[in-house]
Parts: sequence; structure tokens; C-alpha cells
Amino acid sequence: MDFSGFYKLPITERQKRIKEYAKLTDDELTLLTNSGSLKLELADRMIENVIGAVHLPLGIATNFRINDKFHIIPMAVEEPSIIAGACKAAKLSLPAGFTAEADEPVMIGQIQIVGMEDIGLARKNLEKNKTEIIKIAKEYMKPHEKYGAGVLDFLVRPLISERKQMLIAEFSINVGDAMGANMVNTTLEGVAPSIATLAEGKVRLRILTNLAVKRMVRASAIWKKGLISEDAISGIMDGYEFAKADIYRCATHNKGIMNGIDAVLLATGNDWRAVEAGAHAYASMGEYKPLTDFERTENGDLLGSIELPLAAATVGGAVNSSPTAKACLKILGVKSSRELAMVCACVGLANNFAALSALSTEGIQAGHMKLHARNIAVIAGAITPQEIDAVAAELAEKKNFSSDFAREALGKIRSKR
Ligand code: MEV
Repeated sequence: MDFSGFYKLPITERQKRIKEYAKLTDDELTLLTNSGSLKLELADRMIENVIGAVHLPLGIATNFRINDKFHIIPMAVEEPSIIAGACKAAKLSLPAGFTAEADEPVMIGQIQIVGMEDIGLARKNLEKNKTEIIKIAKEYMKPHEKYGAGVLDFLVRPLISERKQMLIAEFSINVGDAMGANMVNTTLEGVAPSIATLAEGKVRLRILTNLAVKRMVRASAIWKKGLISEDAISGIMDGYEFAKADIYRCATHNKGIMNGIDAVLLATGNDWRAVEAGAHAYASMGEYKPLTDFERTENGDLLGSIELPLAAATVGGAVNSSPTAKACLKILGVKSSRELAMVCACVGLANNFAALSALSTEGIQAGHMKLHARNIAVIAGAITPQEIDAVAAELAEKKNFSSDFAREALGKIRSKR
């Protein structure tokens, strides 16, 4: 089938073509094209080649007291246990809850310069003209100055690559409450010709880095001994040491942290891929390391902390265009991108605490499968909430989570009616 010019077609025509191509039934097409609260016309303006929308459950994490303020936290995620784990860990941190802080929202933008005859001279020329370069860059940031955004600094560093020596010019830019990609990249593209002229070289890539080390967030909480058992504390310490000493475990440890962070980012329309990339790159600076730390306090309580770069936004991009993201931000009630980053960090820490405490004691499968049983019931054909619950209860009781058994259970439940 010819898909050339697909992007020029109206949405209904695209849907028709895809239906024919994949031999979708009417029902399957309806599932894909039912876009819920995101109108298809709006989706069509957000990305290319739109035919429909996918949906994720949106849940709420409770019990989060962060810097003395309670937050109700929307989380969009398909995996069971993540929201339950976050709520439980947050509850156990009460009454004190979490403390958190975030750096100013400063992003780093990079310009790659190649093809210079004399790299030393090019570097000198750029450094000598730093004030002028910053002035030019500031012109492109003018529209954002009223929101506190602006160019802060500029530096140049040589890079030895396998291809040839190059210079990297780096701008530090305060992006206010935005994620910052658009304003940073626009500024970089705007200032790049002047940089090329001064360096007598060719400018190649002009893009922000997702390793947002000037936009770090930190959070911590104390879990009191007594509220959690001695065995749970030692179990968490053992699990944490495992992650510190073994990269294979560490990747999964950090994945559990990102479970919570991504869910908040997704609910609020944020670029979770950018935060993921930054988090794992940060974890890999030096030795690959856990994004959290655990230690025992003098009283024997458990102190957990987290630190990672986190470029979250409360304005711009999908945050503004997605109606659900706007509503989620309203529920969350954060006033700035920094506050959103703090919430994300606390949720990440809570999810890590929950995962480590379950993994190191009773294991996660019992709770996980109980929740997952409802998914299996749906896959087996259960439709009404009563059917779903009844099938899930049967699976949990018999500890058999196969879809064949679920179908059998559903058949029996239906025949009894
Ligand atoms: C599963 O999504 C996350 C965990 O694997 C995290 C961890 O192992 O720490 C449970």
C-alpha cells in the first residue's frame, strides 16, 4: 500500500488507510480513534500523521507531605503497584514527610564548531568576545525575560574526537518554568552564525543537553524505626548496597525510581524521555550509581535521599496544549517548575523505598499479581466491574494467573448467573 503523502490526508482518510492496511475490524478502529478528552483535531496539531490516541490510567498518590505542604499527586502509568507503593511509602514518612529543594531552572545549550584552521585561535576569539556573544544570545531570549528567563553564561571547551578536534560552545540559560528545549534551541540557532564567524569555523549541532546538571533536585525523608520494622530497614540497606556494588541491579534500582517520576511527568504533559535520558546519564557520570542513598541515622532510623537532574515544566509544550495535563497541574497545585521537580523527586524516592522494602522482605509478586489479576481478567474477556473483580479474586485465591484459567473462571462465573 502506498503511504506517500499520508501526512497530507485528513484524519478520517488516514484512519481508513490504516484500517485497510492492517485489516482492522470496525471495533478495533473505534478503539484507536476514540481519543477521549484529547480531541483528534488538537492531537493532529500536536504531532504528525495522527490517527487516534492511546490511553493510560490516571491515578492519584496521596500522603505526600513535602516541605510542610500536602500534595495530591496525579500519576499516569499502566503498571500496577506503583501508585500503591508511593502512597504507602509516603504514609510511612509522616508526620514529617519529605524535604526537598531544587536548583534554579538552568539548562545548558551546546554548539558544535568544526573545521577551524587554528583551534587555539578560534577558542581565544570566542572567549575574547564573550560579552558580545552573550548580548547576541540575549536578543533571542528577550520574549522570555518577563518570566525570569535569560542567558547567564557562555564558555568554550575543546573536544578531542575520533573524527577531528572540535570546539563546543556552551550557554547556561535560565528557562523559567519551561522545560526549555524550544527557547534554548532557538537561541542557539540564532547566535550560531556569529559564533561561526568569530571561530572561522563551521557550526554543526545546536541543541540543549538533557544532562541538566545545573537543574538538580534533591529530596530526603526519614522513615522512623518502629513505624517500619528492623528487618525492613536492614533489608533496604542490603538492597541499596547491592545497587551500589552491581550495575545490573543498579539499572533496575534506578528504573524503580523513574517509575514514579515518569508517571508524574506523563500526567503533567512533560517530556519524560528527556528526564530519563538525563537521569541515567547522571547516574553514569563516574561509576554508574544509584540515584538514591540510604543510611541509618544515629537513632537507628532510615534516612533516604535522592538527587538527580530534573527538567520539568509547568508551562510550554504539551503542558499547555494537553487539556488533561492542565487539569493535572491544577490538582497538583505547584507554582513553579522547581516545585514540580521537587514533587517528582519525592515520588521517585518513595517508589524506591517501596520497591526495596517489598523486594527485600515478602517480594513484590504477591501484591503485584493481585493487582495485575484485574488486567488478566479483562484480557480473558471480563467486561463489567463485577466480572473483573470476581475473576481477579478467583485468580488470587487459586494463585493461578494464567489467561486460560481466567477464561475458565469467567465461564463459570457467567454460567452461575
Ligand atoms: C518494577 O517496575 C520496578 C522494580 O523492579 C524496581 C526495583 O527492582 O527496585 C520493582
